[in-house]
Amino acid sequence: MNATRPEEADGKLAVLIPGLGAVATTLIAGVMRVRRGLSTPVGSFTQMGALEVDGIRRPVNEVLPLAALDQLEFGGWDIFPDNALEAARHAEVLRPEHLQPVAEELANIVPMPGAFFPQYVKRLQGTHVKPSRSRRELVELLREDIRRFVREKGCTRAVGIWCGSTETYVEPTETHQSITAFERGLDRDDPAITASQLYAWAFLKEGVPFVNGAPNLTVDFPAAVSLAIEMGVPIAGKDFKTGQTLMKTVLAPMLKARHLGLRGWFSTNILGNRDGEVLDDPESFRTKEVSKLGVLEQILQPASAPELYGRIDHKVCIEYYPPRGDEKEGWDNIDLFGWLGYPMQLKINFLCRDSILAAPLVLDLVLLTDLAKRAQLRGVQDWLGFFFKSPMSAGGSAPEHDLFRQRAALERALLTISGR
Ligand SMILES: NC(=O)c1ccc[n+]([C@@H]2O[C@H](COP(=O)([O-])OP(=O)(O)OC[C@H]3O[C@@H](n4cnc5c(N)ncnc54)[C@H](O)[C@@H]3O)[C@@H](O)[C@H]2O)c1
Repeated sequence: MNATRPEEADGKLAVLIPGLGAVATTLIAGVMRVRRGLSTPVGSFTQMGALEVDGIRRPVNEVLPLAALDQLEFGGWDIFPDNALEAARHAEVLRPEHLQPVAEELANIVPMPGAFFPQYVKRLQGTHVKPSRSRRELVELLREDIRRFVREKGCTRAVGIWCGSTETYVEPTETHQSITAFERGLDRDDPAITASQLYAWAFLKEGVPFVNGAPNLTVDFPAAVSLAIEMGVPIAGKDFKTGQTLMKTVLAPMLKARHLGLRGWFSTNILGNRDGEVLDDPESFRTKEVSKLGVLEQILQPASAPELYGRIDHKVCIEYYPPRGDEKEGWDNIDLFGWLGYPMQLKINFLCRDSILAAPLVLDLVLLTDLAKRAQLRGVQDWLGFFFKSPMSAGGSAPEHDLFRQRAALERALLTISGR
């Protein structure tokens, strides 16, 4: 890692979010509450974690010059016109009494109209969208939005993070292979370029670090990686690691460490928020499914222990069930085997809250990519894989999924950035 000692985090940091839905508003309202001393930032590595320096555990934000929470200035885009207060109420994650003290501040965050192509998110009919224009024009409009926000809010720098809906499954095409091909694709309005890719391109062109919280390709294609390197911008993704995948990447390393065999892993959950509604479309679900399925194979390495992991049935389902809202319930049935091949079962019933698990990850990723930019890191930041279900990795190496190894890599990278 070629990091230089980062400068202090002077001035305000614009946090620009495409998709002001459940995750984004839970993050924003939460940061506002923490700033006022009304809540504790539970689940956030940067706010509650520690790093070991010279044998002493010290708070992460003492070891590194991270932006402070009161330096963050939130803004974003959505395809619905609701301000952040209305969107938070619609999402029904935080209770009214928790929104009330920050209601005015939230209501002042009004989304800019989104760049949107309905064919990539079939379950939503956006009403607050930029008038239908070519992809080239849309990128230029998004770039103007970024510059205007930074200027009007008096920020010294910005970070972008995609918290928008999951788009339908697409594979990279020729257009995605190089900067020139992608620029040509914008000029001829190539339908293979999705809306989330337009945001990514706009951020990169503006020299702004960009993170992808959804499983979409968004910034995970060769042209975007090249542009990030060329522009000296750090990027990271994809798909926040929250509920069932978080459990998988903790339990699978345990099975492997104890040489216990695995015959099958069946995961299903019920979810009733807008994300669940979007994922009810099989083409959007396919994007999520691909993101979730890669985990076990990388951790268990079936080729190196075929007698333990050579025949695994791994299934992942998500059921849209409106009564649950954001309060997802996940069930895992794990068929494992032990001494002499005797079968056993492990059941997990995780009654979680999707956005409560995701919001602290968004905060950490914003602060750490801003730090990475000040440390002059560019391109894919694989040390941020700790936060993702389907981590991007630099240089084509296989991504690491084991949560403990990911955590060790994160700590190593941060100590390097801090000059230790
Ligand atoms: N909550 C979790 O635990 C979790 C974990 C991993 C990934 N994610 C992903 O994070 C994303 C956000 O999740 P959420 O629960 O907040 O969903 P949400 O549906 O509440 O919010 C997404 C928002 O994006 C908006 N949107 C869609 N397309 C847009 C566009 N082109 N431009 C601007 N806005 C657009 C939608 O109108 C919506 O308000 C989803 O892709 C989800 O799959 C969430």
